[in-house]
Amino acid sequence: MSDKNDDPSMTDSEDAWVSVIQKMDEAYADLVHYQVEVEEKNAELEENKLFFDSIQSSMSDVLIVCDHAGLIQQVNKALEALTDRNADTLIGEHFTVLVDERFLQKVDSFLNQVRIQPLRDCELELKGAEGPVPLSMNCSPRLNHRGRLVGMVLIGRPLGELQKAYKELNTAHAELKLAQERLVQSEKMASLGRLVAGVAHELNNPISFVYGNMHALQRYTERLSQYFDAINEGYSREELREMRETLRLDKLIRDLHSLVDGTMEGADRVKEIVNDLRQFSSTQESEKTEFDLSHVIRTALHWIIKESKRPIEVVENIPEQLSAFGHSGQIHQVVVNLIQNAVDAMEGSSTQRLELSASLQGEQVLFSVKDTGPGVAEEDISRLFDPFFTTKPVGQGTGLGLSISYGIVSEHGGDLTIVNWDQGAEAIMFLPQQGGKA
Ligand SMILES: Nc1ncnc2c1ncn2[C@@H]1O[C@H](COP(=O)(O)OP(=O)(O)OP(=O)(O)O)[C@@H](O)[C@H]1O
Ligand SMILES: [Mg+2]
Repeated sequence: MSDKNDDPSMTDSEDAWVSVIQKMDEAYADLVHYQVEVEEKNAELEENKLFFDSIQSSMSDVLIVCDHAGLIQQVNKALEALTDRNADTLIGEHFTVLVDERFLQKVDSFLNQVRIQPLRDCELELKGAEGPVPLSMNCSPRLNHRGRLVGMVLIGRPLGELQKAYKELNTAHAELKLAQERLVQSEKMASLGRLVAGVAHELNNPISFVYGNMHALQRYTERLSQYFDAINEGYSREELREMRETLRLDKLIRDLHSLVDGTMEGADRVKEIVNDLRQFSSTQESEKTEFDLSHVIRTALHWIIKESKRPIEVVENIPEQLSAFGHSGQIHQVVVNLIQNAVDAMEGSSTQRLELSASLQGEQVLFSVKDTGPGVAEEDISRLFDPFFTTKPVGQGTGLGLSISYGIVSEHGGDLTIVNWDQGAEAIMFLPQQGGKA
């Protein structure tokens, strides 16, 4: 297009035409632009519709969308399949046409109820193609962009499906429980295996000791009978003296004492191990009663210090009297174990100080033993209470002490822990002060 300033021959009416054509051009370009936009929007809408349709038709739960009057606006494939009715024949009908008569009263108030809050897991029956179908229904309000109620959405899951899922869950739970029981069982077998191995190892020592001594005693018995036979047969004093020398009877008599002592010691050790094991397998005593923990601690302390024969400084923060509740005999055993461990740990330490404290802490009583030993190595902390865990040389510790103590304290409803402090280890025991309170 040209400008009238370029062409002075152009009239005003021509000018007007040019501008009209210009405007038409612009309007047409806009139109084309809007057309493209509309087509794009349409395609997008179509795509969204397909997307939602595909979601709806792949839902196994039934879906019913109603307006504010309860008239059906949309249903999904699952509902069509369940009722054997086409969506077109349902749209516009009141949703209650789908509900079995027996539940009409229940669903009547749905629209009013969803105004207040959504309904969850409401059990009702729909008219299925082959009879009533029980469903668990959720009903939510449908709001417009201003937040006003414009209808409701009902989503139902056939109870058969739920029951199936529940059954599967139950089976999975039962399988898990079984697997857990097996694990516990195999753990039990493993610890039993460790227990048996430990017992065998512990018993082996004293038993072989007893055996060795018995063999020696057997040989000695033969020599002694030889000598007594000779006496009976009337051998002369000289002959008997010679015989005593050949048979080395004097040494034999001297040996006899240590052989018998050694055998007794071996048998005692076997008895100790068996006693320990008894405690390990059963922590039951007749009746739990109130007892004086301070007294139990003092007796145990006295007994151990006397035995240790080492100069150990003892700091006692123990009240005159402190009642606790339980089996005093068993608690005595625990206290002995803890003090003995502390005393053992300090062997070789330059400072040997034992700090015993006992006090009332709310409804529990606390007993603590602090030592100035090397403390517990980091890697051993988690194994202290394992049966047969010991760092003591073979023959000096069974490693059952803490494990038995732990069993006893737990059975009393208390707690037992071993921690390290600046200068050594500390064993801490809590016990209930009164029956029925842990
Ligand atoms: N106060 C402590 N300080 C350092 N280590 C400790 C202490 N108390 C226990 N332990 C460690 O815990 C291990 C296990 O203790 P536990 O009482 O169970 O068995 P034990 O003393 O070795 O043998 P026993 O059966 O004769 O009691 C000990 O061998 C020791 O290594
Ligand atoms: Mg011990």
